[in-house]
Amino acid sequence: MAVKQMLICHKRKTPIFAIKSNPMTEKEFIPSHYTQTADNGSFEWSAPSNIALVKYWGKKENQVPANPSISFTLKDCKTITKLAFERKANNDAFSFDLLFEGQPKESFHPKIGKFFERIEAYLPFLRDYHFTIDTQNTFPHSSGIASSASGMAALAVNLMSLEKALNPSITDEYFYQKASFLARLGSGSACRSVKGSVVIWGGHAGTPDSSDLYGIPFGEVHETFRNYQDTILLVDRGEKQVSSTIGHELMHGHPFAQQRFAQAHENLTAIKNILAMGDLDGFIKIVESEALTLHSMMMTSQPYFILMKPNTLEIINRIWKFRAETGTPICFTLDAGANVHVLYPENVAVKVFEFIKNELVGYCQNSQYICDAIGAGAESIG
Ligand code: DP6
Repeated sequence: MAVKQMLICHKRKTPIFAIKSNPMTEKEFIPSHYTQTADNGSFEWSAPSNIALVKYWGKKENQVPANPSISFTLKDCKTITKLAFERKANNDAFSFDLLFEGQPKESFHPKIGKFFERIEAYLPFLRDYHFTIDTQNTFPHSSGIASSASGMAALAVNLMSLEKALNPSITDEYFYQKASFLARLGSGSACRSVKGSVVIWGGHAGTPDSSDLYGIPFGEVHETFRNYQDTILLVDRGEKQVSSTIGHELMHGHPFAQQRFAQAHENLTAIKNILAMGDLDGFIKIVESEALTLHSMMMTSQPYFILMKPNTLEIINRIWKFRAETGTPICFTLDAGANVHVLYPENVAVKVFEFIKNELVGYCQNSQYICDAIGAGAESIG
């Protein structure tokens, strides 16, 4: 995957495991027993990052989102994780080694330890094994792109592979729903990185199968939105001053929280229709408004903070000017940082890429950017 300077971009009887048409409950993710044993082995999966169109910002206990969200799954920005497991003599404590790009990574221990605590009720075998978790990202970790979504999703699908080895009768549907459920307990947005090109997470009145507990693939999108492009302009690759976790917390007691949560429900209703109909103008309006609303929430919380940089605004203004002058359906979105995701349909990719190269790359730190597009979710590698 390419981050380049001025780069060229081309583009059992186990009724418990049966899927129901209604959303699953937490209890249904607790296995009653396993039919097989496994002493040692390994699995390997990749899982992509995702970019929200309607944003998740604010949460309740147990990683339950304050509002529903919808995202495009990315293709090339991903985490590749190998999970090796070996049965140990006792089941006293969690036991794992963490490697990041082949090197031991002690700093990941607390996060993974906490993740294991949160998911243990749903994967009761966790204390039975010693795990070696070997992980790498296809994007540089200094890029400012959060790897928690892809990382937690990749670990969750690996753990589900082990559960499937212990109970081969689980269905694919159950496998992916539970993987998304587990990933959410690691990092909320990670539940949208497991399966599907466009994923909805969070209970929503207009989406009968939607759940606060896991992401579900959105049905058919109009061909306009297939292979949609996302060029990520790396404006600031430094550490964020305020983490997403703290940002979510600041939505408690936020003066505009209730209006914002209601707006997200409305925007999700609208964007579902827009994605199905191929309405580019409608798409641009909602996606850009969502990005700016996310950052408005940050600017109006207590304490307030700003994650955008001057070059973020320069890029936004250039995009608006280019769109007004050429009528090209290009728009931007932001995550919780200064980087800009430039979104556009594949059929204008050549023209937009020229524009990005000529007018936007100069605003990127060290002229760096990443070319990506919509992908389909996690993939088993071995
Ligand atoms: C702005 O999923 O990173 O990217 O659940 O605390 O791990 P935690 O937060 P996280 O928040 C993502 C926030 C966002 C919007 C979005 O992806 O919907």
